[in-house]
Amino acid sequence: MAPRATSPVLVGRAHQLAVLEAALGPSRHGGPSVVLLGGEAGVGKSRLMSEFAARAGAAGARILTGGCVELGADGLPFAPFTAVLRELVRDLGPDGVAALLPGGATRDFARLLPEFGSADSEAGDIVARARLFEQMLALLERLADDGPVVLLIEDAHWADRSTRDLLAFLVGRQQVLDGVLIVVTYRSDEMHRTHPLRPLLAELSRLAWVERMDLPRLDRLYADELVARILGREPEASLADQVYSRADGNPLFVEELLRDCAGGTLSVLPESLRELLLAAVRRLPEETQEVLRAASAGGQRVGHGLLAAATGLNDDALSRALRPAVAANVLTADADGYAFRHGLIREAIVDDLLPGDHTRLHTRFAAALRDDPGLVPPGRAVIEQAQHWYAAHDTVEALVSCWRASMPTGRALAYAEQLTLLGRVLELWDKVPDAEQRIGVSHLRLLEMSARVAGMDGENDRSAAFATAALNEVDPAAEPARAALLLETRALARRYGSGTADLIADLQAALDLVPPGRADGARAQVLITMARYAHPDYAPETAAALEEALLLAQRAGESDTEAKALADLAMLKSADGDDAAALEMLGRARAIADSANAYGPLLAAAINESHVLEGMGQHERAADVARAGIASADDYGLARSSGTFLAINVAEPLAALGQWDEAAEVLEHALALSPTQYTNRVALRQLAGELALRRGNLAAAAESAAIARAAVGRIGHWRPGQYLIPMARLEVELLLADRKPSDAVAAAADAVGRFDLAADPRYAWPLLTAAARAVGTAGRARRGNGELAGQAADLLARLHSLAGSMPARGPVQQADRLTFRAEALSAAAAVGSVPPAVAPPAAFDAADSDGKTPAAQVLAAFDAAAAAWEADGQPYPLADALLRAAEAALAAGDRDGAAARLRRAAELADGLGARPLAAEIQALARSARIRREVAQAGHKPAAATPLGLTAREFEVLRLVADGRSNPEIAARLFISAKTASVHVSNILGKIGVASRGEAAAAAHRLHLFDAVPAP
Ligand SMILES: Nc1ncnc2c1ncn2[C@@H]1O[C@H](COP(=O)(O)OP(=O)(O)OP(=O)(O)O)[C@@H](O)[C@H]1O
Ligand SMILES: [Mg+2]
Repeated sequence: MAPRATSPVLVGRAHQLAVLEAALGPSRHGGPSVVLLGGEAGVGKSRLMSEFAARAGAAGARILTGGCVELGADGLPFAPFTAVLRELVRDLGPDGVAALLPGGATRDFARLLPEFGSADSEAGDIVARARLFEQMLALLERLADDGPVVLLIEDAHWADRSTRDLLAFLVGRQQVLDGVLIVVTYRSDEMHRTHPLRPLLAELSRLAWVERMDLPRLDRLYADELVARILGREPEASLADQVYSRADGNPLFVEELLRDCAGGTLSVLPESLRELLLAAVRRLPEETQEVLRAASAGGQRVGHGLLAAATGLNDDALSRALRPAVAANVLTADADGYAFRHGLIREAIVDDLLPGDHTRLHTRFAAALRDDPGLVPPGRAVIEQAQHWYAAHDTVEALVSCWRASMPTGRALAYAEQLTLLGRVLELWDKVPDAEQRIGVSHLRLLEMSARVAGMDGENDRSAAFATAALNEVDPAAEPARAALLLETRALARRYGSGTADLIADLQAALDLVPPGRADGARAQVLITMARYAHPDYAPETAAALEEALLLAQRAGESDTEAKALADLAMLKSADGDDAAALEMLGRARAIADSANAYGPLLAAAINESHVLEGMGQHERAADVARAGIASADDYGLARSSGTFLAINVAEPLAALGQWDEAAEVLEHALALSPTQYTNRVALRQLAGELALRRGNLAAAAESAAIARAAVGRIGHWRPGQYLIPMARLEVELLLADRKPSDAVAAAADAVGRFDLAADPRYAWPLLTAAARAVGTAGRARRGNGELAGQAADLLARLHSLAGSMPARGPVQQADRLTFRAEALSAAAAVGSVPPAVAPPAAFDAADSDGKTPAAQVLAAFDAAAAAWEADGQPYPLADALLRAAEAALAAGDRDGAAARLRRAAELADGLGARPLAAEIQALARSARIRREVAQAGHKPAAATPLGLTAREFEVLRLVADGRSNPEIAARLFISAKTASVHVSNILGKIGVASRGEAAAAAHRLHLFDAVPAP
């Protein structure tokens, strides 16, 4: 078995760390000074403690750690305090410790440590104990005189009686211990009803200075991140799914499961983990264990009625049998059923079943459900029956019921579940001689369906395998269209592969099977896939293939293919600079897809339309279109694929508009859905990294970039520039923020050489700008370093010639181009002697450079850029351009001009929370001695919304006033329901009402939303 790998960084505990850090030191202001930290085994209590201790230690606190050990009732008394003393003695020596105590009264400590001589045998036991307690208190008090102290008692569920008493004593007198933080950790899953720590916890929690904190399992976002950190790469979506569904966010379980994950699949439960989990079960009465075994066959959660029917026990007997399991925290009970506290406990019990038990138990569940489908929620009986018959190895019943259950009911298409069921039908096929008669569907048809469903679910390898199997069964001469579509399905599944050769071979073979005039619908579909994935970006063949597909689809009356072709053609129009035509085509695509109820093309149209609008600088509209698309993606069960794609299209405009909190919420929610496509992951992480960087969270930015980088190799062949160029720019900016200008120049030079930038001006301009800034920064940092200056000058020359041949379409690209020009001018000045090649070519606006000093030219250029960003409504690049303009104004001797620009820039940067930019602005203001004015401007409150609500809260209140529930608000804004509920409670607090109804009434009374329609 492989050794267990751990994550190099602590994942997802920022909130808990913040609470602990706030509880330590002078800033605690009456906050808690004792934290009782509970959490189930393996959830990360010790890890959190060691991270906190490391930070507190680095900040100068003294850390005293004592762990309780599992020894049974006669264990050593005071074990954790003995450990604490031993550590102190090691640090200060026995005399050093003694010197801290009044009159050197170490005799009392001799009871704990022999270093302090022999214990005072004269005093009675009770007196000695009381003195020991007092001495411990005194010791902590003295230690705290020298600086903050953290007393950390780990694993208090094993604390002996004496330790609990001493702890109670210290916590009770904690108020005199200024500067001491006591943290106690314990396993909440061990806190059964009669556990001796329970009453103590209850008693202590009543004290005002004690905070009880529960360490929850990691939610999906962080659980995936933990997997990525442990593996050192972004996991396949299917692996992340498997880990999450089994470990359910418990970090220890994640680590254990990942021990042997060969080929991206998990093995059975590791032995060590099984033993750990079964220990609690084996302590229960046999009768209880018997019912638990039955429950384990019923699933993670099983209803009381169903379990009663399957075990044949009556209600009372069942309740009686399960009570000890609930008391021991193996099961949790709710109004009408039971759930295992953790899925892996169930798995361990299942693994422990005898082979005969399996069949017997599952047959009983299946039969109970057949007799009474009402034992489970509506719609579930057919699926659960299928699962039980399959697990009971009843091949005929399983085949028939799996097929029946695989037919999606309603609109919610659970592709993963459907795929499992179809896979089972295929698996059982050979064991049931008359399978085709029984279900009325051929083997080939099943393979086709499986290939398609796997593709929808993002399971590309499986999709390709199913398609290959189907191709072996189909006769291309007799059914050319069918074979062509299978080849196309396989090609699609291969789009994330390492090269395009296989993909093109399949698509070419498909086209050969359906020449024009034969099966037009199929040919059109193949052509679209060809256009998307086989041709280089924006090649002439792309347009030709799409035009042909459009004609054929129209002729064949295939509206959804027609809509797809239109939506893709629109992107080409937009890339050519004709956005109006693009929007018109997208409108048509949407109408056609709408009337044909074709959700795939409908979402494609929404994605493309918001993309085009964003490129045009119509940020608000872009976000609105994408939001509407998200709502439909949710309806169609595509939240994880198309929904996360659209999330990018929501977040991008929000970020551009300076609504960073909103953008971050959307990104976080989308990442938490663990998107199936790598493209989406890269784009989401890249955007998240960019936001973090602008806000000054360099570590988070670097982390996002690293995760994105790990997934970059797998993004496939559809407009890679859209993903890779922004990634490259983020890397350059990160290096600059990290003060590594020469690395930034190298990275920029590499990136500039790697991409076909002229084909992708929308993404290329910002990269050129970042590259020019790298040149300028390097030039300023290393004046006199000839080699670096040479490299930087070379890069600058390359940038100029690239920029000279690159189009700038629409207002955003034009603003980008102006910014590049300004950066390039400033960089040219910084690298010093400008070699002839760096001089702007005539084509590149040299018009206004005549007769001006270099500083005046740079000033004019940044002013022009600022004006363009102002018109485009993007506050961040505006503030940035203003700062650079102010720099140039100062260099040109215009102090008032500089102050005015800095004031505005400071206002914008503060409003955004762009901390690094704000700091740069202040630094420049300081060095130019215009700090006062700017600082004053900087502290102006951000634009006020009514009632002191933030812009986001205002938006949420609007939806509340509309009568929307939290899940509806969450879906509307593409944030998590938890985030929505936090907003709602903040709103209620701010406007001082108790309920959402009152909030709505207040909003109506104040006519808050009369003028503006709901989004
Ligand atoms: N937030 C986290 N980020 C990364 N790794 C984590 C995190 N939380 C826990 N781990 C890892 O999971 C494993 C279990 O964590 P830990 O030992 O802290 O759990 P615990 O709650 O103290 O469990 P126990 O009750 O058994 O003492 C460790 O290897 C730890 O490094
Ligand atoms: Mg621990």
